[in-house]
Amino acid sequence: MNVARSDRQSVCHVVSFCSCLLRHTNQQPWLVCCWLELARPIGCRAAIRKASTVAPWVDRKAAARDYSEGWPSNVIGPSPELYSAATITPREATLQDIEKFKQDWVSAVRRALKAGVDVIEVHAAHGYLLHEFYSPSSNHRTDAYGGSFTNRVRLLIETIDLLRAEVPSGFPIMVRISATDYLEWDPSLPQFTLDDAVRLCKLLAEEHGVHFIDVSGGGLDARQKIKSAPGYQTPLAEAIRKAVQGTGCLVGTVGEITSGTQAQGILEEEKADAVLVGRAFLKNPSLVWSWADELDVDIHVASQYGWGFGMTRTHRHKRHG
Ligand SMILES: Cc1cc2nc3c(=O)[nH]c(=O)nc-3n(C[C@H](O)[C@H](O)[C@H](O)COP(=O)(O)O)c2cc1C
Repeated sequence: MNVARSDRQSVCHVVSFCSCLLRHTNQQPWLVCCWLELARPIGCRAAIRKASTVAPWVDRKAAARDYSEGWPSNVIGPSPELYSAATITPREATLQDIEKFKQDWVSAVRRALKAGVDVIEVHAAHGYLLHEFYSPSSNHRTDAYGGSFTNRVRLLIETIDLLRAEVPSGFPIMVRISATDYLEWDPSLPQFTLDDAVRLCKLLAEEHGVHFIDVSGGGLDARQKIKSAPGYQTPLAEAIRKAVQGTGCLVGTVGEITSGTQAQGILEEEKADAVLVGRAFLKNPSLVWSWADELDVDIHVASQYGWGFGMTRTHRHKRHG
């Protein structure tokens, strides 16, 4: 992990993936790059129904069997519902499994705090276990964790409450959700919709102390149809932002946001409080710097790099060029 920090900006690059968070402070946009996925327990990751699949660049929908280092006999989900025709049918999680998940969660949070993290994001999107529980597409349980909306969101709410009980007061709690299953093309399919997401987010913000909702979408069901386009998920964030306004909870958007100007426009039009970026960072690890130049914003860069560009500790590329 490589972390650079100052009073105005904090930059963390963590092993596999990074997001950029861009906010407006005192009329000055500022850029923060942070890792958002800290406390996902290994047990959860190993057991979800999208588990034991092959690498997505080999096949996005195929299972990994024992001979290809999968764990097909240890895949758990809320219900025995397939992710795709080729993946493993999960075993329905028992109440004991759910209790174990919660204990593992608390242990993971304690480890994260011990490691000194500044923020924890609960990953409840993209078909991971918590999303599988709250979506009626993957959850057909008949106990307290299935059926009604209240029952389906129960595990996520319990997870957040457990997290809140572990962290110091005011510690930033973020949640990543999928605000749609992208199954609208077939209204006959049970699915989690934007209306459900608005209801869930109001609950998270008003009653469960969530400070930031990171609005993403999909990843739950291989039948999803995503119409990708610049900023394609921003309308989801915008609707949720309106719903939680006045609670103090901030809302972020992600998905095909590829320029500083585009990101800045989203903030200025008050469609989101923050912009998160994935793939553009893969193409350009110095994206914060590039966007700062594009937006003519001063940022700090590591002195080890900055001196080569004639910078002082404050980045004034254009002014000192
Ligand atoms: C190679 C790759 C790996 C990703 N890994 C994760 C992940 O581990 N967790 C996650 O929540 N999203 C993951 N995503 C999704 C991104 O966080 C992001 O939501 C998505 O790529 C859309 O944003 P973008 O258009 O800026 O890339 C990944 C995306 C890519 C391309």
